[in-house]
Amino acid sequence: MSKLICLGIESTAHTFGIGITDSEGNVLSDDRSAYRAPEGMGIIPSDAAKHHAEVSEKILDSALKKSKINLEEINLISYSAGPGLPPCLLAGSNFADKLSSKNKKPLVPVNHCIAHIEIGRLKTGCKDPVVVYLSGGNTQIIAFTEGRYRIFGETQDIPVGNAMDTLARKIGLKQPYGPNFDLTANKGKYTKLPYVVKGMDLSFSGMLTEAVKKFKAGSVKEDICYSFQENSFSMITEVAERALAHTDKSEILMVGGVAASKRMQEMIKIMCEERGAKMFVVPKEFAGDNGSMIAWIGLLTYNSGKIKEIDGKINPKWRTDEVDIPWLTQK
Ligand code: FE2
Repeated sequence: MSKLICLGIESTAHTFGIGITDSEGNVLSDDRSAYRAPEGMGIIPSDAAKHHAEVSEKILDSALKKSKINLEEINLISYSAGPGLPPCLLAGSNFADKLSSKNKKPLVPVNHCIAHIEIGRLKTGCKDPVVVYLSGGNTQIIAFTEGRYRIFGETQDIPVGNAMDTLARKIGLKQPYGPNFDLTANKGKYTKLPYVVKGMDLSFSGMLTEAVKKFKAGSVKEDICYSFQENSFSMITEVAERALAHTDKSEILMVGGVAASKRMQEMIKIMCEERGAKMFVVPKEFAGDNGSMIAWIGLLTYNSGKIKEIDGKINPKWRTDEVDIPWLTQK
């Protein structure tokens, strides 16, 4: 098969990103711009979408320039069709649509979660992992079986990254919340918070409510962050361990923005060592939302010949386990 080049567009939430990737797995360029919510507030989807529309041409130009190729040399265009925030998804899909029709390139809608998994497999070289997918928008423990990435466990309410960002805002931490949460937690000691694992599923909202309550009652923010981190990461590690045992797999792959957390990695590492499993972590530059992963999954999808038609171009609730994965076969 001759080499193909795909331009991928990401716009599910805060980030508008464009990546250019070839079918041999080389990332030729990756550029992105993140919307920042007003201090103390969560994402305002319509404002984020406005940001995406405003920066799209600029990011396209710089991604092309960095890749040293021009639009004619691009073979196909892919975009995140879901899951995500509808106004943000629409900003990306409209841009992708225009780019594809103007330049007469095939358009490939792809699933954002599968993109996180596949860029992780590509960049780490792991083969058949239990995937620990942690971000602001998703918290899932996933493994490939019977033609799809199946969800073995997931949050029943808010994603862990969202819970941590919300807590950070409520206790007055500054942006960027992720690194500041880590720094604050490093100076804390443990105070009891609810630990909620239900079967293979997780819940973070009760813990969030209790943490805010304790902060208002006088607990210091260092202890709140430390305890929230210890509890939530232990819960995730517990479910990941059980998924490893159920599936009899021997690899763990950590993907998504929260996978960059050192404490999360440390807990998973200890668990893996105890079970004789190997831990892989997506490189930091591909942990958060990015266009390269969208380009890569665009190529895998296009080459499989199974491009999914999506009514209205986006599917904000598109689940990981609704996507056929023809490029993988069962062991
Ligand atoms: Fe993401």
